[in-house]
Amino acid sequence: MLREVFPICQNWRFRPGFQPSWVRRECNESRFEKVTLPHTAVHVPYSGFDERLYQGLFCYRRRFRLPDRCRGKRVFVDFGGAMTAAKVYSNGVLLGEHCGGYLPFSFDLTESIRWGEENVLAVELDTHERKDIPPFGGAVDYLTYGGLYREVSLRAVPSLSIESIAVLPLAVGERDARLEIGCGLLNFTGKSATPRIKVEILDGTSVVLHGEETFQVSDAREQTVTLHLPVSGELSLWERARPVLYHARVSLYEPEEVLDADSVRFGFRECRFTPEGFRLNGRVIPLRGLNRHQSYPWVGYAMPPRVQRRDADLLKEQLKVNMVRTSHYPQSRHFLDRCDEIGLLVFEEIPGWQHIGDEAWQERVCSDVASMIRRDINHPSIVLWGVRINESADCDPLYRRTNAIAHELDPSRQTGGVRFLPESNLIEDVFTFNDFNPERLRQPSHPLHLVTEFGGHMYPTKHVDNVERVTEHARRHAHILSQAAATPGIAGALGWCAFDYNTHGNFGSGDRICHHGVCDMFRIPKVAAGVYRAQCSPEEEVILEPAFAWTFGDRPVGGGVGPGLINSNCDRLRLFLGGEPVAELKPDVERFPGLVHPPFVLNERFAGLGGERWRNLVIEGLIGDEVRIRRTLSARCCSLATRSPIPSNHERNFCGALSLLMLK
Ligand code: GAL
Repeated sequence: MLREVFPICQNWRFRPGFQPSWVRRECNESRFEKVTLPHTAVHVPYSGFDERLYQGLFCYRRRFRLPDRCRGKRVFVDFGGAMTAAKVYSNGVLLGEHCGGYLPFSFDLTESIRWGEENVLAVELDTHERKDIPPFGGAVDYLTYGGLYREVSLRAVPSLSIESIAVLPLAVGERDARLEIGCGLLNFTGKSATPRIKVEILDGTSVVLHGEETFQVSDAREQTVTLHLPVSGELSLWERARPVLYHARVSLYEPEEVLDADSVRFGFRECRFTPEGFRLNGRVIPLRGLNRHQSYPWVGYAMPPRVQRRDADLLKEQLKVNMVRTSHYPQSRHFLDRCDEIGLLVFEEIPGWQHIGDEAWQERVCSDVASMIRRDINHPSIVLWGVRINESADCDPLYRRTNAIAHELDPSRQTGGVRFLPESNLIEDVFTFNDFNPERLRQPSHPLHLVTEFGGHMYPTKHVDNVERVTEHARRHAHILSQAAATPGIAGALGWCAFDYNTHGNFGSGDRICHHGVCDMFRIPKVAAGVYRAQCSPEEEVILEPAFAWTFGDRPVGGGVGPGLINSNCDRLRLFLGGEPVAELKPDVERFPGLVHPPFVLNERFAGLGGERWRNLVIEGLIGDEVRIRRTLSARCCSLATRSPIPSNHERNFCGALSLLMLK
């Protein structure tokens, strides 16, 4: 029998508080609640609550039996993530504590397992903002919630087993294309061995490439062996428009018998920031993206795979961006899996926010770097590792270490370190810079420059804000995206941010929400989302999204739509009022020269449009001479800014998001 993995997300028992007796095997569970993972320790209100609400100790218990065929195997429990610190007990015995809520960890259960009987796994979860654990110690502009909010499983493996597989495309060119496959082994036999390792690259079920080698491994517990596979035309490139994925199946033989086998998914591609911009497989791709927090209303971080994947779809299909930054921590593997599948580029970074703690804290940062890269090395969507605490001051010794760890574990990717101080030391490869000047982006002072945040707290905007504000919110996003695209030396810009998020009291709008998103916390797009949406090619989707409300009362001048914006990827627009033509507009290339599809600007002339006889406003979008889209803003039922630009697929998302949240 090869390895076996048993997912254990169902049938957990949960109780707020903690008493030592609760981890015992015999503990009476009648006062525990039955829960399913992902689980949030405390349901929070939508707004107006603070972080103390979910901070405390909590206990989780899970009973399990293992089939007899697993006897003689090493048995591990694998946690996808537990916020914030987890002490794990097996049948009442403390196995250890894992600190940090964003990365996976495992414990060896083997010695404590009772074969043929029921076993109890218990977790004492500490959800406090502990100063000894990144990102805590200073202020943090986001909440971390608490709970076993990712999956947990049991894994039974032979005493010589495959612990990890890292597939790196080191070159993809015609002459030198090759894969490097690093295979981490776990040796509990206490003896040296000469296993044969076979690698098969699968396209679906067919093997397209394979190789094998015999290795001398020592009696050391952990070691890595490396194989090289030359590639000559067998593999298609992972491209944004055609993100081809393969599996690498690794089998361990000794001598002829298969001891263990495991597989990972990967993509064959080369990514590089260069002075000409970001290159994927040699081709420059101007980057246009958004930052994402992984939080949701009421349940915090505890969203299941389907919803995690949906965020990636929203970013790619609705917001039409080509890059996302996982600010400010490693996010759900399901989100990353989906990014791989749809060709959405990712900049992933370690947990942290401005503050750098003491030596022990910095040790955790280094282990976070290693753990993030080990977990995510096979995701082709990830094109840059963030190895600096977001917006922290210089700390050269620490960042020399984090960069060295990243480069050693992954020679195929560059590093970035997000900063807001332009004069800070650059130890990373790419100058990743948060640029909050609303009008002028800083000229790049380093050949590899990416704008990793803009907007955000400079202009928080809610759906219900008045029309001038929501329009200005959109204009600011358009303006900076345009500047970034028009400035030589800037690889692209990632707006702050995709989705609103709950935060601490010293941030946000007084309601514990940062209304910085181009979508709200439910993922409903705001008017500014239209700026991003309109940047796709009309072949993908024809977009026409007015950034104003068709209502009489919302402007000090007495209604109308000017000054205003319409986001569209059409060549020109025609406006009709009550059936009468009132204007024909062209995209404003002068104001937004960098954008492929600049917004259409309605100037002051349109103030008061509508006048006393309020009639339907019809906007037609033309490509060439053909009308490709028509939007009617009804005079009868006032089209609110929040509603009018939302096409039906957004409404479906809205209902989807709501029902998902309600199902939880
Ligand atoms: C940045 C920070 C983000 C967020 C943003 C708000 O300085 O990196 O986490 O706080 O400001 O605009």
